[in-house]
Amino acid sequence: MRRKLAAGNWKMNGTAASLAELEALKSLLPADTPDVVICPPAPLLFRATQAAKGTSIRIGAQDCHMQASGAFTGDISADMIADTGATYVIVGHSERREAHEERDRDVRKKAKSAWAADLTAIICIGETLEDHEANNTLDIIAGQLAGSLPGEMTPTNTVIAYEPIWAIGTGKVPTLDQIVEVHDFIRERITTRYGAPVAELIPLLYGGSVKPDNAAMIFQAENVDGALVGGASLKAADFGPIISAL
Ligand code: G3P
Repeated sequence: MRRKLAAGNWKMNGTAASLAELEALKSLLPADTPDVVICPPAPLLFRATQAAKGTSIRIGAQDCHMQASGAFTGDISADMIADTGATYVIVGHSERREAHEERDRDVRKKAKSAWAADLTAIICIGETLEDHEANNTLDIIAGQLAGSLPGEMTPTNTVIAYEPIWAIGTGKVPTLDQIVEVHDFIRERITTRYGAPVAELIPLLYGGSVKPDNAAMIFQAENVDGALVGGASLKAADFGPIISAL
């Protein structure tokens, strides 16, 4: 059985007061709750891990540096993230690929540095609107998978999130058929490269405008094991129903 996972990426939103949402989420978790991960901005990581103590909620960071330490002003290492009590880190989010010019090979190195600190890497991939409209989605995804996933990937050290860039923060969501096609393709590619025992257990998340009113539709896809949620993870009242739909 593959584990199910709902991850919330707060992006550059939130201050200490926002941890009240994490408190509120605790009481909204269903009894048979899937794994839940909250990825707040780095300054909140330690406080978030304290707030989540004694619950099934796990905390993750939104990025890590590919090196373990050194002269990299403003960056944070995977070890530092682990030191806060966090256990996950998002790598290769399209906003970082775009704004920080991160390439597949950088993402691959970041995933490895996450693993070295015992963090689970949530590796993000996804195509632009231009590629989507030119029907290049599967080629782009194949290239990103080949370049971003390290050879030593296992179902315990990695979660893969497919986030079509054109669906992020836009309110536009692919059709169920499109979601099924891409997620089936990702599972097939992983099977070819890593073998069925690994591929069968790797959680695949969908991300991009997931909301309480479309989550159930998205989760119908057999190869969607959860969601990476941006805007709708900021409020427990929105994230709670998404988790319950899983
Ligand atoms: O990482 C989550 C993300 O990029 C999706 O954002 O706001 O469309 O749910 P949003």
